[in-house]
Amino acid sequence: MTDTFKLYVTGRDRCTSVSDAHIGVSLLEILRDAGVYEISAMCGGNCSCATCHVYVEAAGLLSGPDIEEAEMLDTLLHQEPLSRLACQVAVTAGIDCLRVEVAPEE
Ligand code: FES
Repeated sequence: MTDTFKLYVTGRDRCTSVSDAHIGVSLLEILRDAGVYEISAMCGGNCSCATCHVYVEAAGLLSGPDIEEAEMLDTLLHQEPLSRLACQVAVTAGIDCLRVEVAPEE
């Protein structure tokens, strides 16, 4: 098992980039490291603003949203089955690939 995984990110401009990312940090930090700056993350990762809304497909283990995240997602106009708050997604060992799409602004 390696400590990196393949990250595909589709921005609001519909362009997709690919990079090798490191496990062990939140998806929000990973996206920042990958140069995805269109996510404002206004609350600083405290699960209270939902401006880090993304759609996530994972190959490998990824825990589901907890109650607090699920309740926040339920407030969103653009919620879909793959919706997650990037600040709440822990990327741990066992992830081989993540496909992330930045959700539309609310
Ligand atoms: S940064 Fe505010 S909910 Fe994720």
